[in-house]
Amino acid sequence: MRHSGRVSDRVDDRWEQDDWDGLRARAVEVMPRAYAPYSRYRVGAAARVDDGRVVVGCNVENAAYGVVLCAECGLVSQLHATGGGRLTHFVCVNGEGEIIMPCGRCRQLLFEHGGRDLLVWTVAGVKPMSEVLPDAFGPDDLAHVAGAAVEGTE
Ligand code: THU
Repeated sequence: MRHSGRVSDRVDDRWEQDDWDGLRARAVEVMPRAYAPYSRYRVGAAARVDDGRVVVGCNVENAAYGVVLCAECGLVSQLHATGGGRLTHFVCVNGEGEIIMPCGRCRQLLFEHGGRDLLVWTVAGVKPMSEVLPDAFGPDDLAHVAGAAVEGTE
């Protein structure tokens, strides 16, 4: 069962349905550029950054199957390649333009760059990352241990 209708109103989010639909359209737009000759499963991802810009990504597979780059990997690379910042809103779609969930590894990627408050349009409506990846391990866990390498403390 795939979620393709309106976002949920259970999250108090100043973003309107139109804003989410616009972000989803960016994911749908980039999805056909995926390089997915092995799985034939294309993915497009789009996210809003806290300065208002939008970053996107598509999956890129490899003859060595395990080397696959999920759409979120490209998105995060574009985030940093275009100036960094924090992700605030995220959505990804399959080849039919349907909303899909980010895989487990990519939830971790998204958590790193958006934190607990990143809003994700999931198959069950909009949820914060704190629900999409509960009790996440993150940068704060490193900072908690004296001597662990954390950006800005070396
Ligand atoms: N895929 C993504 O790009 N993102 C996800 O979050 C889920 C999976 C891709 C990886 C692979 O190219 C294809 O979907 C099938 O697993």
